[in-house]
Amino acid sequence: MKNIIETTNAHIMSTYGRSDVVLDNGSGATVHGADGKTYIDFGSGIGTASLGYCNQAWADAVCEQVRKIQHTSNLFYHAPQAELAEKLCAMSGYEKLFYGNSGAEANECAIKIARKYSFDKYGKGRSTIITLVNSFHGRTIATLSATGQDVFHNFFFPFVGDFRYAKANDIADLHEKLDDTVCAIMIEYVQGEGGVMALEQAFVDEIRRICDEKDILMIADEVQTGIGRTGKLFAGEHYGVKADVTTCAKGIGGGLPIGVCLANQKCADVLGKGAHGSTFGGNPVVCAGAVKVLETLGADGVMEDIAKKAEWLRTELSKIDEVEAVTGLGFMIGIQLKTKKAPDVLKACLEKGLLVLTAKEKVRLLPPLTITMEELQEGTKILREVLEA
Ligand SMILES: Cc1ncc(COP(=O)(O)O)c(C=O)c1O
Repeated sequence: MKNIIETTNAHIMSTYGRSDVVLDNGSGATVHGADGKTYIDFGSGIGTASLGYCNQAWADAVCEQVRKIQHTSNLFYHAPQAELAEKLCAMSGYEKLFYGNSGAEANECAIKIARKYSFDKYGKGRSTIITLVNSFHGRTIATLSATGQDVFHNFFFPFVGDFRYAKANDIADLHEKLDDTVCAIMIEYVQGEGGVMALEQAFVDEIRRICDEKDILMIADEVQTGIGRTGKLFAGEHYGVKADVTTCAKGIGGGLPIGVCLANQKCADVLGKGAHGSTFGGNPVVCAGAVKVLETLGADGVMEDIAKKAEWLRTELSKIDEVEAVTGLGFMIGIQLKTKKAPDVLKACLEKGLLVLTAKEKVRLLPPLTITMEELQEGTKILREVLEA
């Protein structure tokens, strides 16, 4: 292999807008390029390396498990899968879960639960799922269909039917979209890809109220907001609301692929034998790592520490002249700029040794949850220099 970038571009479908950087190794929130350049990562991949790069406890658990038994089919039992399920259900208060390999798969499972719950109870004709304008739920055909952005509804026709998009924070529009064909309302508490916008309390409360009143399932897509990202295990805790079904992925794997669909008692047994499955879902290596993610984040004071560091970063950002607004919740941060363009900021940060993300017109930050104050200060200094240039 001559050159990693050339080889990639020659042989891997060009579905990503990549930066011309080859990442080679990392530790904590610091990652090194193959050319020796050092970066502070304010993106954690895209919110996945929740404990930073190569966290010792996580890496040890993964390595130990890979040498013990790296895979069993789901026709057998294994300890890491059971341990993770027990821990996650205890921490979240959900009854049962299903393991997939990605956020999209977790959401596919949630969609299936909603439609079957309704079918089992009410028969055909109650299959509509309301999602929100500007939402993002994944790249499979069903989750693209669930995604409330026209830009994703091209080329791949026909999309899956019976999705309806209500305007975020618009209770009147939500009521207009409701009828007796609706079986679920699916939301992100903070729209991530859609521009890092947190939903308003009254809107979330109304969704919960409607769902209770009409026996509609409330689905929370916490693929990006979940597992400590906002300073709580799940963002729903900020709202004092618990969805019937919550999905998570990204951060729970610490960098390995996993998607989890959690269901409350009401719908925990909707999917029975043969109704759903995944060859790799709940893989022992991935689950052994995820147990360490939960142990680390569940330790005393860790959530409070994430919330405190996030607050520090938000305050520092809001002091910068070029910053119009800081949006999102906790360590899920959107920076609305006054004059600069987010892609230019991303490029300038990269040159100075800081990795950031963008969402719509905003700069987006999803730092590792375990980032040290020193790394946070160093990255913030670079970002300030770029924004003040
Ligand atoms: C809220 C939300 N849902 C679903 C997904 C899809 O997750 P994955 O890429 O793991 O399929 C994402 C990814 O960005 C997301 O942010």
